Formats: sequence, C-alpha cells, structure tokens
Amino acid sequence: MSEQEIGKDSIKEAVRQRYARAIERPSPSCCGPAPSQPVQVKSSCCGPAATETMKGSLVKSAGYEEEELGRLPADAVQNSFGCGNPLAYAGVTPGQVVLDIGSGAGIDCLIAADKVGPTGRVIGLDMTPEMIERGRQNTREAGVTNVEFRLGDAEKMPVADASVDWVISNCVINLSPDKPAVFREIARVLKPGGRISISDIVAEELPAAIRESRDAWTGCLAGAISEAAYVRGLEAAGLREVRATSRLVYDAGQLQGLFGDSACGITPGACGDGAALAREATGKIWSARFEGVKPYPASTASEVVVELAQMEDLPAIRALLADADLPADVEPHLADFLVAHHAGRGVGCVGMEVRGSDALFRSLVVTPAYRGLGLGRRLYETLAAHARTRGVARAYLLTTTIESLAEAWGFRRIDRAQLPAAIQETSEFRGGYCASAVAMWRDLRKAANVASCCG
Ligand SMILES: C[S@@+](CC[C@H](N)C(=O)[O-])C[C@H]1O[C@@H](n2cnc3c(N)ncnc32)[C@H](O)[C@@H]1O
Repeated sequence: MSEQEIGKDSIKEAVRQRYARAIERPSPSCCGPAPSQPVQVKSSCCGPAATETMKGSLVKSAGYEEEELGRLPADAVQNSFGCGNPLAYAGVTPGQVVLDIGSGAGIDCLIAADKVGPTGRVIGLDMTPEMIERGRQNTREAGVTNVEFRLGDAEKMPVADASVDWVISNCVINLSPDKPAVFREIARVLKPGGRISISDIVAEELPAAIRESRDAWTGCLAGAISEAAYVRGLEAAGLREVRATSRLVYDAGQLQGLFGDSACGITPGACGDGAALAREATGKIWSARFEGVKPYPASTASEVVVELAQMEDLPAIRALLADADLPADVEPHLADFLVAHHAGRGVGCVGMEVRGSDALFRSLVVTPAYRGLGLGRRLYETLAAHARTRGVARAYLLTTTIESLAEAWGFRRIDRAQLPAAIQETSEFRGGYCASAVAMWRDLRKAANVASCCG
C-alpha cells in the first residue's frame, strides 16, 4: 500500500486518533526522550521503546538537560512523544516568536517559553484537540503566560505570513501525508532571516512490511523520508543552508522494542517477526535534526550599508568569523575591515592585511540569510576601492569555498609558492590557515571582470 493507496485524509485521521488515544492513557511516554525523573516508560510511538536501562542515555542523546526537564510539569515530560530536542543549541533568544508544529502536550513550547522570556511568544500548533487541551493544562500548571495553543493542520497553518522567528518541531512532519505543503507553510510563516530547528525520524529503503503498514505510519515510521529528501523539500520551499546537524541512529535492540510492541507499533501479524524486521531495518531509521534559514528577498540589498568597521563593530565581526570558522584575529587589522549592516546588525564583513603594495584579502563572511543578494561581491569591490586609497596594487586571497565567485570578481588562481614573501608572512598564512586553500590574486589597477555576478 503506498501513501496514495492508504489515502491522505485517512492517514491524518488515523494519526489524530492515535495521538488522542495516546494522550488519554495515563503516562504513556510514548515516543522519544525518556524523562529525567523516574517515571514509567512503557512503549514507543515515534521512537524506540525506552526500557529502564535506556532512559538515561536517551535523555542525554536527545539533548534535553535534566535540569530544564525538572522545571516542567511532570505531565508535559511524561507525555513527550518526540525523537530529539529541537531547542538544543538552537540559539533562540529573548523577545523572539517561536512556532512549534505538532506541539503535543507542550514540552518544547514550555522550554521555548523560558528562552524567549516575557517579551517573546510561543505558538503551539496541533491538529489533535486532546493534545491542544493537554498543552493548555500543562502551560497553566507551569504558570507560563507567553504560550498559546492553536488547533490546526501543519499543511495549512493558522499563522500569519512572515510572523515567526523560529519554527521548531519534534517528530511530527514524518506523520504528514503532504510534506511539500508543510515545507511551504514553514517558509511562508517564517520572517526573512527566521530559522528552523526540526527533529524528525528519517529513513532509507525501509522494508516493505513497514512502508505498507498504517500502524507504522502513525507510529512515525512508514511516512519517514530520507535525509536528502527532507533537505531537498525544505530547499524547494525556499529555505537556504538546510542541513542535518545531528543524528541519533537506532540500533536493532531499540528498533525491536518498537516492532515487538503490538500495542504501539507495528502489528506483529502484519509485519512478521519483530526481531528479524529490526535487524533488516537497522541503520535505515534514525532521528535527525534539521537547520535552515529563510533568506531575505533581493530588495533587501539596497537597505544594506557597507562601511569601514569601527571599534564597536568588533564583537559582531568576531561573531561572524566564529560562525564561519574563520580566524578571529581582527583587532590589529580593524582599520582595514569593512562591515555590512542591516537593521542595526552586522550581516557581513571582509578585511585585509596590507604589506606595501600587496594585500591579503581575508575574512569574507555573509550571514546565511543574506546570501544571494550580491553582498560578497559588494564587500570585495568596496574593499578593493579602500585598498587603492591605501596604495595597494595587488590583492591576494586564500579560499576553500569561493573560488568560482572570486573568479567572477576578477581573481585568478596562483601557485602558493609564487605568492610574495610578505603575503606569506601575514597572520593568516603564519597561522597555517587551511593548507588545502586555493591561492588567487587580482591586479587592482585593472577593473574587475564582474559582468555577471552573484554571491
Ligand atoms: C509524535 S507526536 C509529537 C508531539 C510533540 N512534538 C512532542 O515532542 O512530544 C506528534 C504530534 O503531532 C501532531 N500532528 C501530527 N500530524 C499533524 C499535522 N499534519 N498537523 C498538525 N499536527 C499534527 C499529533 O497530533 C501529535 O500531537
């Protein structure tokens, strides 16, 4: 039975019924991270069954801090059905708006509420009325006032365009029979520069017995797509820099815990022997966390100001370089650094180290949401103009990533051995920055060939 044969509407109804039942059972703790406190963990919906011995490791591997779980109402933790922790390392900050798709009993909404603080807001969205009710109860019990729950479908969300800073979700999108619609909705509701942090089950080449089982669909298996398809789907919706950043691969024992449980997994009769199925599926099912960003529209480029960096720009430049894994020894060269500002934030930078009439161009960074607006080229051209005023005739660079862009900006490849000795003594060289980087140079006395460009 394929997705079409099972029927999209009937899948959603089966999912709704399953989660309505799951939340009505006393402390079912079904899918994912086991709670920090000793609670009864019985079976698993969207993740492996957690036995007593697995509990600690699952909490750890899901990335929840025991301390943060300890602050939540026990019900929100015990009725957590996730397969990861989308808020771990996500960088949610005070004042932001977070949307949790498929919020369930509210565990991630409550953690997000703490991160955004009283000036921020959290919206929990779920299509199962019983889950919405439980999320509201847990929020009341926690005394939290900056979370609201909305009943609605991930495929058509009751959320305004460009209104949220973060979309998070924990083990939900695999359940949707129309993932492209969910991905489009995510891109619609995010503000430009808004980001995603989504934990979900992914799968490669699942055994047919699983793919064809409706129980396996509602149990977060049959609807799982591959990591590559997930990334492609989010990019097709318009997000950028989409990648899986962490994985939790289930072993055969964990999978068997799931398959062997007819109450909350695949009906053994329909799928055959649980142990054999688990062996067949090992290495093919895991939980992944996806990150990505909604880019700013092209019209934003005219609002970005590129200017010489000042002392107060130092922290922003250091942060940009740290995010890009580039050397952060900026201060001695700050007079030859440029920064791109938008809406009061540093969104890009570039700098140079001058040696007589030669200079090493370095530290080019454009923050992901601003890529594709021509900012890289603009930073380089502005730096070239600044370099000329400093009497620089030749610019050199080292790159592992922008060789073709730099070529479009007038740079040509050069053997590292042919670089002027003074350039080889710059801190970037001396620091041994990436021995495999390509060296390029440009004669600044000639206009760059920048007819077609990007970057
Ligand atoms: C596996 S549970 C995860 C709940 C929660 N994220 C957590 O970590 O505990 C899946 C949740 O997503 C909801 N859900 C599934 N498909 C949905 C859809 N298409 N639209 C909205 N909610 C959906 C279900 O009602 C259920 O509450």
